Amino acid sequence: MEVAARRLEGKSALVTGAAKRIGHAISLALAREGANVAVHYSGSEKEALSLVAEIEKLGVRAAALRADLFDKRELETLLDRAREALGTIEILVNNASIFPSDTLGTVELESLERNLEINAWAPLVLTRAFAAQSERGHVINLLDSRVSGFDHTHAAYIFSKHVLSAITRTAALELAPGIAVNGIAPGLILPPAGKDEKYVDRLAQTVPLKRRGSPEDIAAAAVFLATSEFVTGETIYVDGGRHLKEYFPDGPDSR
Ligand SMILES: NC(=O)c1ccc[n+]([C@@H]2O[C@H](COP(=O)([O-])OP(=O)(O)OC[C@H]3O[C@@H](n4cnc5c(N)ncnc54)[C@H](OP(=O)(O)O)[C@@H]3O)[C@@H](O)[C@H]2O)c1
Repeated sequence: MEVAARRLEGKSALVTGAAKRIGHAISLALAREGANVAVHYSGSEKEALSLVAEIEKLGVRAAALRADLFDKRELETLLDRAREALGTIEILVNNASIFPSDTLGTVELESLERNLEINAWAPLVLTRAFAAQSERGHVINLLDSRVSGFDHTHAAYIFSKHVLSAITRTAALELAPGIAVNGIAPGLILPPAGKDEKYVDRLAQTVPLKRRGSPEDIAAAAVFLATSEFVTGETIYVDGGRHLKEYFPDGPDSR
């Protein structure tokens, strides 16, 4: 039987916040397509090293790179460290994120700054460093399906994702024709800190397709974008249609 060619053979990727959850699934999916993967992490060293071992078993190279994206020097040198470990980076996935709770009424400037720093500024700095070392490639930014509307209980977070969405479209134009820049907007995938699986399952009933997604659904979109030669400045909503409607049909508790 003929074995399908791996579509990213010989390419190298940097995935931020890769040790767990969605970043973990994206890293594995890229590796299954033949890409070498730089697994960026901050606190999750054990999980990052275990993912590196799992990726290497797929017959590609991997490296675990620690960096606190709040640290200017660590942020600015991360892409170069990935290139030193794996050669030119052709795929950058900006996945790392923070998700604190606040509202329009309670949000503080300091919280807005912190969200912007990790969720928008870090992707911008990494995209610039990426473009400086490679004339060709793909940048994939993890957004949120609520960029189509609001997230009333994570105000600073969703504002920062709106900024990342604007960066995605601006960079798509500025970095064309060599580099494609796209977004993935996940819907209900995994429970945030402090919430359990039941919370996600309950909210899934408000989703048009009446289900939650999996990290592998997001990873499949990342592989599609990383292998596409004719898509840029686009955002793929992987959310069961959640972006098509308001999010609290059952009252404020279902937001
Ligand atoms: N989960 C969902 O259902 C959902 C829904 C909509 C959108 N999204 C978006 O999809 C992406 C992945 O979601 P997720 O839930 O898997 O993310 P997550 O678990 O909340 O965060 C991913 C990683 O970001 C890293 N990170 C946080 N602060 C950092 C810092 N200062 N420096 C370096 N790394 C830092 C952490 O790495 P360490 O663990 O190594 O510290 C963390 O594991 C995010 O961009 C998120 O906004 C997710």
